[in-house]
Amino acid sequence: MTWVEIDEQLCDGCGICALRCDRVFTSSAGEITTDANEETCILCGHCVALCPNDAISHSRLDMNVFSAIEKGANLKTQEFIQFLKERRSHRHFLNRKIKEKQLDMILEAGRWAPTGSNVQNVEIIVYQDPAKIRKISDQVIDYFSWVNGKVQRKIERLEAEGKHNTEDYRFTRRMLGIGERMSQAKAAGRDPIFYNAPLLMIFHSISATSAPKDNAVLVAHTVALTARTLGIESCYIGLVEVAANYYMPLKAELKLPPDHEVFNAMILGYPELEFLKTVDRKPIHIRWE
Ligand SMILES: Cc1cc2nc3c(=O)[nH]c(=O)nc-3n(C[C@H](O)[C@H](O)[C@H](O)COP(=O)(O)O)c2cc1C
Repeated sequence: MTWVEIDEQLCDGCGICALRCDRVFTSSAGEITTDANEETCILCGHCVALCPNDAISHSRLDMNVFSAIEKGANLKTQEFIQFLKERRSHRHFLNRKIKEKQLDMILEAGRWAPTGSNVQNVEIIVYQDPAKIRKISDQVIDYFSWVNGKVQRKIERLEAEGKHNTEDYRFTRRMLGIGERMSQAKAAGRDPIFYNAPLLMIFHSISATSAPKDNAVLVAHTVALTARTLGIESCYIGLVEVAANYYMPLKAELKLPPDHEVFNAMILGYPELEFLKTVDRKPIHIRWE
């Protein structure tokens, strides 16, 4: 049985559905047939959203949640680009909780990020308890202190292989002593991982799925950009991702489902510092074919 039904009274045979999705729809001599099932349909809702005659209904989607686009968003391109340029990683925050309503809006926005094969399975853990955030910070520091020996051995191996001039070598050298520097910062009363941010988000999902890392990054960046519209700034914390997936005490602390991995982490808060200038970026390397 197909998941999709076409109301013959309403369908004028325009074929937009078949043009968009030839896995589910077949158009022949003005007649459209459908075969939507687990193998052909990823529940993206494009067919329903594109049909100009409201002729399509989908039994696996809630038809009440499709809302008409009356007047699309009208962002000015230059303003939008300026908004992107003004986004910077923030590491100094006011000691103030994010307002609940704003947090709801930010998290809601994350739902609208695209996901590979429309899996929509990125999950978010939100931490706002300073003690819990501090505990995770301490565990990340523990991990990087523990891993230092491994970093040293990798450097020796790369040197023995004559790979001094590689990005891998330069990156690994930068990792050397990182745990020690973190511990020193901690001993001096600082939080070198989360910078005392009032909120931490951990993005995770099942690892055996379509593009889990990309999905998490897209959700996280949608969250980050939406937060900016409310005066809330953020910083990705890649250090957590590494530690969470390799350091069992931290993995246990996060209480992830067994087949899940952390794919992204981000701190958010009201900024303490204001950037007064934008900075330039390296030109993006493009090959025109
Ligand atoms: C994937 C990723 C991981 C990052 N991890 C960290 C981190 O662990 N700690 C940190 O302070 N900044 C982290 N950053 C922030 C980068 O240092 C920052 O994006 C970069 O220096 C550019 O600066 P901007 O974001 O202010 O433009 C991370 C950024 C990205 C994209």
